[in-house]
Amino acid sequence: MAEALAHAPSVHNTRPWRLAGDGRVFELRVDARRRLTATDPDDRELRISCGAALLNVSLALAVGGRRSLVGLLPDPTSPGLVATLRPAEHMAPTPEETALHAAIPLRRSHRLPFADRPVSGSHRMLLRRAAETEGVWLHAVHEPAERRRLRALLTTAHRRQWADPGFRAEWERWTGRPDGEPYGVRADAGGAPPQHNDVWMVRDFTHGTPPADGAPAAGHDPEPLLLVIGTSTDLPTAHLRAGMALQRVLLTATALGLATSVISAPTEVRETRAALARMYGPGVHAQVLVRVGHAARPEPGPDAGTPDRPWRGPALARTGPDADRP
Ligand SMILES: Cc1cc2nc3c(=O)[nH]c(=O)nc-3n(C[C@H](O)[C@H](O)[C@H](O)COP(=O)(O)O)c2cc1C
Repeated sequence: MAEALAHAPSVHNTRPWRLAGDGRVFELRVDARRRLTATDPDDRELRISCGAALLNVSLALAVGGRRSLVGLLPDPTSPGLVATLRPAEHMAPTPEETALHAAIPLRRSHRLPFADRPVSGSHRMLLRRAAETEGVWLHAVHEPAERRRLRALLTTAHRRQWADPGFRAEWERWTGRPDGEPYGVRADAGGAPPQHNDVWMVRDFTHGTPPADGAPAAGHDPEPLLLVIGTSTDLPTAHLRAGMALQRVLLTATALGLATSVISAPTEVRETRAALARMYGPGVHAQVLVRVGHAARPEPGPDAGTPDRPWRGPALARTGPDADRP
């Protein structure tokens, strides 16, 4: 379970959680020392990160042969208590749970350009189904005009954040970390410094560190599959659900042999998040964007990679109307 937690994605790799348990009940609590008060003043992304961790823990219980009863924010008098998991009846894991659990240590944020190869229709369908399993909305952005608007929002958000001393201070503190540190984003996890032609990768996690000898330059990123993950309310429980959905989508992609990275600047900046609300309507609260594609080269870092035998998804997906259509 500790292993599953250690591999969960989190904003700036802050890992803002603590897990304690006595075998009858596990409690996931916020570690307030790792809040990002400038980047994430409302703790929305902290809760998304905790939701991702929660999914990993429940998958670890599932492959151990136990269902779990999950309670989200179960005690209003204890706001730091994010969730409880109570191991329930014994049951063999499903093939999907086994595949997603196996993907936990293989998943990595892939910030390098993708190969020029589209994500197939059947894979797109499985990614949407993954989000919907958690009751969360997932939208694939195909329309050129919509992609242009999102690109413009990303650029605006990036500029606003870069002009904000509070954001910059947290950026300095949590990114560009040396190898071997458990928290924060390592300099080499950024792939290569963003280039002027990078459309979706504007954050420079490398702190200007030149790529190691033989490592690729950023180069041109062909149009990736771009997903918007959203919820019908903006309540704290919705943020946890969004995190569970985000992680289910990322693990599903990894199990299918796809690579992913999260894009959150447009949902972090108040002004651009409000623009997203106007784009998608009052019933959708955009929580995070995800970039998906086929890795052109492996992401640096231990254990990163794709499964030996990528999961093919449940049979129903392969017989669906647009199965195998790119
Ligand atoms: C809520 C949230 C927001 C994130 N925002 C970004 C982002 O804007 N850009 C990015 O490259 N990675 C982003 N990430 C990915 C984290 O940086 C990453 O999960 C963390 O550094 C751990 O690395 P790993 O995903 O390779 O395990 C985000 C992750 C979460 C959960």
